[in-house]
Amino acid sequence: MKKVIFALVVLGSSAFAEIGGWSSVKKINIGKNIFSNNCAVCHGEKAEGRANFPALNGKGHVGHHSPKKLLAQITNGGGGMPAFKSKLSKQEREAVLVYLHSIWPKRVKHHYNKKFNIKD
Ligand code: HEC
Repeated sequence: MKKVIFALVVLGSSAFAEIGGWSSVKKINIGKNIFSNNCAVCHGEKAEGRANFPALNGKGHVGHHSPKKLLAQITNGGGGMPAFKSKLSKQEREAVLVYLHSIWPKRVKHHYNKKFNIKD
């Protein structure tokens, strides 16, 4: 059992290690543009959310889900959200997540990085 858990942890973090450089300014800026052009229409210009569209600015539920899970939502959509699999490249989907992470309140980010082993 221990081995299985270890394998899962390694898998989980390697999916993310690929992103690397969470605080890379370049990635954040690319992600910001992608967000304005593709996501703000539903999630709000500042990711503040509205009506049935969840806030992504760290004040809602978003900081409870693993990066892998959030990326899966962006890739495959669901629950009223379109899939971005064919619209955005993998790097672009990752960059938009890095951007969102960058605007979260310090406290939320700190907790998230610790929980999901992210080196900022
Ligand atoms: C047409 C409206 C719409 C667009 C455009 C849209 N979303 Fe969403 N998004 C939603 C809805 C609705 C949900 C809630 C899905 C659910 O509850 O299952 C959601 C959920 C999410 C979640 C999960 C939030 C959580 O708390 O678990 C993330 C992350 C997300 N969206 C990111 C994005 C990103 C990044 C983009 C742009 C690339 C985007 N969305 C574009 C409607 C949209």
